[in-house]
Amino acid sequence: MSQQGDGAATARYKQAAAEWAVDGFLQPGMVVGLGTGSTAAFAVQRLAALRAQGRLLDIVGVPTSRATEALARSLGVPVSTLDAHPVLDVTLDGADEVAPDLSLIKGGGGALLREKIVAQASRRVVIVVDAGKLSPVLGTHWPVPVEVMSFGWRSQARFLESLGARVTVRQGAGGEPFLTDQGNLVLDCAFGPIDAPAALAASLGARAGIMGHGLFLNLATDLVVAGPEGVEHRA
Ligand code: 5RP
Repeated sequence: MSQQGDGAATARYKQAAAEWAVDGFLQPGMVVGLGTGSTAAFAVQRLAALRAQGRLLDIVGVPTSRATEALARSLGVPVSTLDAHPVLDVTLDGADEVAPDLSLIKGGGGALLREKIVAQASRRVVIVVDAGKLSPVLGTHWPVPVEVMSFGWRSQARFLESLGARVTVRQGAGGEPFLTDQGNLVLDCAFGPIDAPAALAASLGARAGIMGHGLFLNLATDLVVAGPEGVEHRA
């Protein structure tokens, strides 16, 4: 679900952007939010490679998912928790869709709630993408993932339809309902281009049973985007 373009070129762009961000933003002693997804994984791998060269040895990572925690641990990157480090220096994460004002749709990998919690706790949120993620208007290319409690989820689905979404229950690899790290369902909500993302985010945020949603508004401080023209940084 998290791959919008899964070609070799897209993977190269993701890697180039992630490595540029690690090299450009991480400093010794930082507490770093570690995002989720294939682009964020390239960042964790770059961090591990620098540590193997004896650099950034005192960095601590706060993972946004069990998958990222497992990857970081497997590569020897020290991990901690948000409770131990309630304020992070910087978070590096990917995104599914990026609008010109750096508002985002995230959650293709299902880690949207932890990703947003970690982003909100970060002084700087660096979003790292390949150029295929850029979009004129959020919702043009990607549904908004909405994390809901399984209790009463059909009621949430009807609510989301009443807001104009075409709702799909996200499936896991084996065809069973996908469950987040918190044990919740994800409803992928195709709204089409979203004219008023802040109003939609307010409606989603006010609904009991909706635990989180993939509209990340006013959270990204920096964008690192890689494509055929090279790597570009926007802030
Ligand atoms: C996970 C996310 C990811 O950052 C997003 O899906 C992008 O993934 P990828 O880097 O694999 O394209 O929000 O919940």
